[in-house]
Amino acid sequence: MASSPIILSVLLLCILSLSSSAQPSFRPKALILPLTKDQTTLQYTTAISQRTPLVSASVVFDLGGQFLWVDCDKNYVSTTYTSPRCRSAVCSRAVSSGCSECFSPPRPGCNNHTCSSFPDNSVTGTATSGEVGLDVVSIQSTNGSNPGRVVKIPNLIFVCGSKFLLKGLARGTVGIAGMGRHSIGLPSQFATAFSFNRKFAVCLTSGRGVAFFGNGPYVFLPGIEISGLQTTPLLINPVSTASTFTQGEKSTEYFIGVTAIKISEKSVPINKKLLKIDGKTGIGGTKISTVNPYTVMETSIFKAFTSAYVREAAARNITRVPSVKPFGACFSTKNVGVTRLGYAVPEIELVLHSNDVVWRIFGANSMVSVSDDVICLGFVDGGVNARTSVVIGGFQLEDNLIEFDLASNRFGFSSTLLGRRTTCANFNFTSTA
Ligand SMILES: *[C@@H]1O[C@H](CO)[C@@H](O)[C@H](O)[C@H]1NC(C)=O
Ligand SMILES: *[C@@H]1O[C@H](CO)[C@@H](O)[C@H](O)[C@H]1NC(C)=O
Ligand SMILES: *[C@@H]1O[C@H](CO)[C@@H](O)[C@H](O)[C@H]1NC(C)=O
Ligand SMILES: *[C@@H]1O[C@H](CO)[C@@H](O)[C@H](O)[C@H]1NC(C)=O
Repeated sequence: MASSPIILSVLLLCILSLSSSAQPSFRPKALILPLTKDQTTLQYTTAISQRTPLVSASVVFDLGGQFLWVDCDKNYVSTTYTSPRCRSAVCSRAVSSGCSECFSPPRPGCNNHTCSSFPDNSVTGTATSGEVGLDVVSIQSTNGSNPGRVVKIPNLIFVCGSKFLLKGLARGTVGIAGMGRHSIGLPSQFATAFSFNRKFAVCLTSGRGVAFFGNGPYVFLPGIEISGLQTTPLLINPVSTASTFTQGEKSTEYFIGVTAIKISEKSVPINKKLLKIDGKTGIGGTKISTVNPYTVMETSIFKAFTSAYVREAAARNITRVPSVKPFGACFSTKNVGVTRLGYAVPEIELVLHSNDVVWRIFGANSMVSVSDDVICLGFVDGGVNARTSVVIGGFQLEDNLIEFDLASNRFGFSSTLLGRRTTCANFNFTSTA
């Protein structure tokens, strides 16, 4: 008997409309994750609710990391874990070819005919091979000012890491949440799951900050909406910066075009070639990283920058004192005033693609307090063979809202929120669901 396709599709439509009227599905505009600074490692961590039954997995937040990976060696228990068959669509989305076999009893992370990828510990620069897996993730939606309903992503793609790969990560964490430009990077998967813009924003602080995925607004107590960001193009490094990669792979990290560095409005003399990404080797340029606690500069840039800073500090009668590791220049707080933007010290400017697009760094983001009366310039020497010439690190990002628009390839930045009378610690985490 031939069944009529028209009757079938009418039936299907009825069922679909019935189910949608019975339970109108909630589509979030945006999602949030909390970001907490670990005071020992100075890493930023977040919590991902995953598995069945749900557990809250604490993971290191890696802005440029490729994807989410968690340790599946120990304590990965879930009735909803599945591993995609090799050569399936999920494997190609995870950029994974090949077919694995595992010679231990089957468990999450160990199955036959599955595909694998390379979970990367970006803190220690170690990577290993691990099974690509799928499992449910729950995450809080937001209207921009409070958390709202929790929504589910039934099959979030991640990679199984190993216990040894956790070495060097903040205590209690079980993996890394990668926010980089990868087809299974979390921003991309979140956007696909709820059809929102491939855009996210990060607001780090020394306590608990927040990351937003999808559309704004970004609202902080007391009711301050952060808008009017300055923007500059996001650049793509054609050579991967991961610990292990195959030839031709691009970097998933976020690079921007710093063209000059100024201190008290005077240009620091640096070799401009170092500020460009070499198209063949991928060496050079400026990236943004949350796994570096302080901004790292290639040695010649670091030396020029530090001596220019010391000179400008001296011009303001700020007394230099012996350096405290890992910093290169430290000062007495004796002649240093305190303002809303932190210590009143020479201002640093990162000039971007045009002379009027400038990232200004004030005392709160340049001076690290190391004792009651000593502050240090919070920048460190990256060595002469630094792969990336300038790595803008966590301390310089704190209490600044930064936005990554992957669709339009633009980076937006607020400059210090202290100037707008709020901080990244002021997101209201009281749920209104
Ligand atoms: C995978 O296949 C091999 C060889 O057929 C077998 O020895 C092994 O136990 C299997 N592993 C799993 C996890 O099923
Ligand atoms: C978000 O929801 C809360 C509670 O309903 C409300 O007070 C707040 O104004 C909303 N914020 C925005 C930006 O819509
Ligand atoms: C620095 O100190 C000298 C001598 O004490 C004084 O003349 C000068 O005005 C001071 N400069 C600043 C910028 O405070
Ligand atoms: C945070 O949001 C909740 C829910 O809207 C509200 O009741 C509370 O007053 C807010 N907190 C502050 C400090 O405004």
